[in-house]
Amino acid sequence: MSIIDAIKARSSNGIMTDTAVSLAHIKQLLDAAVCTPVHHNAKPWRFLVIQGAGRQTLSDIMVQHLDKRISDPKEPRNIALRQKLSQKAFRSPVIIAVAAAKPDGEKILMIENVASAVAACQNILLAAPELGLSAFWRTGSFMYAPDTVSALGFEGGAELVGLIYLGYPKREMRPKPRETSDPYVRWLE
Ligand SMILES: Cc1cc2nc3c(=O)[nH]c(=O)nc-3n(C[C@H](O)[C@H](O)[C@H](O)COP(=O)(O)O)c2cc1C
Repeated sequence: MSIIDAIKARSSNGIMTDTAVSLAHIKQLLDAAVCTPVHHNAKPWRFLVIQGAGRQTLSDIMVQHLDKRISDPKEPRNIALRQKLSQKAFRSPVIIAVAAAKPDGEKILMIENVASAVAACQNILLAAPELGLSAFWRTGSFMYAPDTVSALGFEGGAELVGLIYLGYPKREMRPKPRETSDPYVRWLE
């Protein structure tokens, strides 16, 4: 498949089996992830591979973030919300938390480190199908809380850019119709 076809064929397939993903496959994806353009050779990509029982830690972080924001955890709506949220980390056997490191030196801007880490996320999404895997990108307000960044063991000042859920698809997805770029493009010539 051509790269353009692979890009067009990519889509988020959220229904995955709980079959563990091999270490070799995870490493292949991570090695592909770091093949991004990067300014000042900043090497800003940071990854935490969360799998198996480690998913409970992520689930707890999500629920604790919610708990700080709800006034009555016993309200039925909040009980349901908590329950739903507590299951999210278990949607796939592996979750790769991707962060951008804080710039080291004045020449490097955080936005550029974030840009490179975001490209790393897309590399994973595009590479996964070649290994028979599906992957999808999630965030959530909890991800942007400094508490979450440190609870997941990232260095100070790092910013999470994505949780990439990874696993074997239960079923194939039909290709999504993709739009053209026309409405989003202006030309200066
Ligand atoms: C930075 C970022 C964060 C996202 N976070 C979420 C999310 O938290 N929940 C969600 O339903 N979709 C989220 N999405 C969108 C999905 O990952 C997905 O790309 C979108 O639904 C379009 O579907 P497709 O990937 O099949 O084209 C996010 C996308 C990006 C780029």
